[in-house]
Amino acid sequence: MNHFLDIHTTSGADLHAIIDQAKVMKQARQGRPKGMADDEQPLAGQMVALIFEKPSTRTRISFDVGVRQMGGQSMVLSGKDMQLGHGETIADTARVMSRYVDLIMIRTFDEAVLHEMAEYASVPVINGLTDRTHPCQIMADIQTYEEHRGSIKGKKVVWAGDGNNVCASFLHAAAKFGFDLTFTGPSQLDPEDEFVGLARQAGSKVVIERDAVKAVEGADLVVADTWVSMHDSQSSKERRHNMLRPYQVNEELMSHAKPDALFMHCLPAHREEEVTSAVMDGPQSVIFDEAENRLHAQKAVMRWCLGV
Ligand code: CP
Ligand code: NVA
Repeated sequence: MNHFLDIHTTSGADLHAIIDQAKVMKQARQGRPKGMADDEQPLAGQMVALIFEKPSTRTRISFDVGVRQMGGQSMVLSGKDMQLGHGETIADTARVMSRYVDLIMIRTFDEAVLHEMAEYASVPVINGLTDRTHPCQIMADIQTYEEHRGSIKGKKVVWAGDGNNVCASFLHAAAKFGFDLTFTGPSQLDPEDEFVGLARQAGSKVVIERDAVKAVEGADLVVADTWVSMHDSQSSKERRHNMLRPYQVNEELMSHAKPDALFMHCLPAHREEEVTSAVMDGPQSVIFDEAENRLHAQKAVMRWCLGV
């Protein structure tokens, strides 16, 4: 049984195999109506629980559709309507759910909840985002990069803005996929030392550069994310915006990257805040391919978890 808890806790061979399978499964669906089942039905007879303690559009819909395309059944559960951590321990919820379902995906706040769920569940558990990481997003992003530009090994990725949960998973991926990452943002919002250290230990070059223009020089990929994540307090919004404004990804900033650099954003995006519409809708942007690939990458993750 394989849990998919983080990029760095999954072997490089398995990560590559998952992405390769995602590409094959995507190819097999070309031109098909979205509601049509896949030819292969590896999840036939399987029940998947999707638990959300935070809002979601992409994760929720792509997991749900992915399960159905592979012949399984899914239930979308709101954390606040469950006894999760309120009426009973996470461990007991995990034990109970394991008697009903074959796979659990959870989006939560504290990653301790994810880890407790995985420790006590007797079925695989997938991380659908925590305050600290978002591994499913990065699997889709690596697939997207490879589809457009080939291998990401040795490439320069620039993260502009808040060193948040998505940035952390990019640092995990730097270690596993062998790319370099330059972070550009205010020092108060640097990624955690643990994530930077892991990438450096694995041989990736990780640079912290306060000057956004210098940071993007030679970039193969520029990535942005919201300035206020779901776990950040709304009262910090104005302070964060003031700190992060110099790191907006706009056409001027993109002009300092390589001419064929790609732009990514996990979405939802705040147009004219962390990124301008000109970049989001411009020729270097692959944001909607990333969103689509959530579906394909997660289908492959689920198959890996279940060994089917
Ligand atoms: N990128 C992402 O995870 O989007 P949702 O929050 O809409 O699921
Ligand atoms: N950093 C964002 C990502 C949303 C998909 C958040 O955690 O809100």
